[in-house]
Amino acid sequence: MYFAQRNPAQLTNFLGKLFVFSFVWSFGGNFRRDENLDDDGGIIQRGETKQEVSVTYEFDNFVHETFDTEPPLGVRLPTGNKTIYSYFVDMKSGNFVLWDILVPSTQTLIEKSAIMSLGDLHNSQAEQQKTILANEIVPTVDSVRYSFLMALLLLDKHPVLLTGESGVGKSSLILNMIKQISKEGGTGTKADSLLGSVFNFADKNNDLIENIMTLTRGNEDSAVEKMNLFGSQKAKPSPGVLSSIIQFSAQTTIDRTCTQVIQRLVRKGRDSMVGPRGRKVIVFIDDLNVPAQEVYGAQPPLELLRQFLDLGGFYDTKKLQWKNTTDLTFTAACAPPGGGRNVVNPRILKHFCMLALPTPSTRNLQHIYQVQLGKFLHEGDFVPEVKESLFSFVSGSIAIFYRMCNEMLPTPTKIHYTFNFRDLSQVIQGLLQANEDVIVNRDLCAQLLAHEVTRTFHDRLISPSDRERSSTLPL
Ligand SMILES: Nc1ncnc2c1ncn2[C@@H]1O[C@H](COP(=O)(O)OP(=O)(O)OP(=O)(O)O)[C@@H](O)[C@H]1O
Ligand SMILES: [Mg+2]
Repeated sequence: MYFAQRNPAQLTNFLGKLFVFSFVWSFGGNFRRDENLDDDGGIIQRGETKQEVSVTYEFDNFVHETFDTEPPLGVRLPTGNKTIYSYFVDMKSGNFVLWDILVPSTQTLIEKSAIMSLGDLHNSQAEQQKTILANEIVPTVDSVRYSFLMALLLLDKHPVLLTGESGVGKSSLILNMIKQISKEGGTGTKADSLLGSVFNFADKNNDLIENIMTLTRGNEDSAVEKMNLFGSQKAKPSPGVLSSIIQFSAQTTIDRTCTQVIQRLVRKGRDSMVGPRGRKVIVFIDDLNVPAQEVYGAQPPLELLRQFLDLGGFYDTKKLQWKNTTDLTFTAACAPPGGGRNVVNPRILKHFCMLALPTPSTRNLQHIYQVQLGKFLHEGDFVPEVKESLFSFVSGSIAIFYRMCNEMLPTPTKIHYTFNFRDLSQVIQGLLQANEDVIVNRDLCAQLLAHEVTRTFHDRLISPSDRERSSTLPL
């Protein structure tokens, strides 16, 4: 049973907490934050400026100054060295809870996969497994909270734009989130769904007290549990959303965009198009800001999207007729302008709730790549000595990546010296090709790492002095 149902007298206080949570993400969600500050160590890497560092703290202080007073005028905010971004409101206990709780530990994730893949894998299956490992997204605090926030907004028909530096994982995060809410029951609040993992996280954690209460209480709130979050009362699991994915490029035309946007909709009557059997349709537009500008500075595909958002329909140029669209929600991703990406017109931006995905902290990077590589080493037939070098593999790759970012800076003659997390992913993907019959001791591990790093970073350097410097990097 939810907190508000159990304690109606404390409703005002509880709503206050929910208000603070909503305030933090609606006003503070699109700040360019430094995620390292949320982690205990607070290591500041990659030459972040003072200004960026302070945004997180300044906003955190502001929220504390504004809301942290004795009830009923304010709410008691969590104390500790974590910022307000690190908490969500638990609907069952009515308290602020750390997002970290929802993320399984690195070791659990590695071992879980090892158990799942017990049994003989055929060769082709093993190959497939490698590509899956490289492509699948590893749950991190960021992926969990941003997926939750985006799914919540999208299912309530608010368009969302996810922004953040290139290579931080925007596209992968949204694709993964859409995959989860497209599953049967994916839009509901059962504990194993995306929204349910936050709303009903106590159930997932097998909360003993809650279980006892359910047993003694009987069926009184089973109707509530069955209720879909958005009001429709259904006994069956909800069918999940339909989605279409549009990758924008500089050459994207307006006609193609229109066809792709409406491809999942079906005709209803003469002048409207709806989702099949009332299902919601989510259109994901990747790299929203890359279409080329026309002579007057507009980006035609974006103007079409603006028409959909402003007027709820489009003009069918074949039948010369206006068509209304319902059940359609947009989500988009784009990196900040620069390097072929244009400034987006505020007239379309105003429709989107904007969230900025921070660059992953060192701890998150460790987590992601240790899980990917750890799964691979666990499943393969590697000798224990190699399995034990997991930590060194990952820390080594991350350290070298940071050194390259800090030392090999882009200049007019070396404009391609821009390294991002995709390069780090490439190093790890190279390591995932290791063969258990060849890599049999620590020295070979070091050689393999050196090879992958050379392939990804050293090969891109153009001047002999840079090459010299990079080859002296400690491994
Ligand atoms: N949580 C994660 N788990 C596993 N891999 C991740 C995670 N986050 C990011 N990555 C990896 O980071 C790389 C970059 O991700 P992605 O392509 O989604 O970035 P992007 O933000 O869309 O970049 P761009 O702005 O250039 O389109 C991918 O190789 C992806 O696998
Ligand atoms: Mg992308």
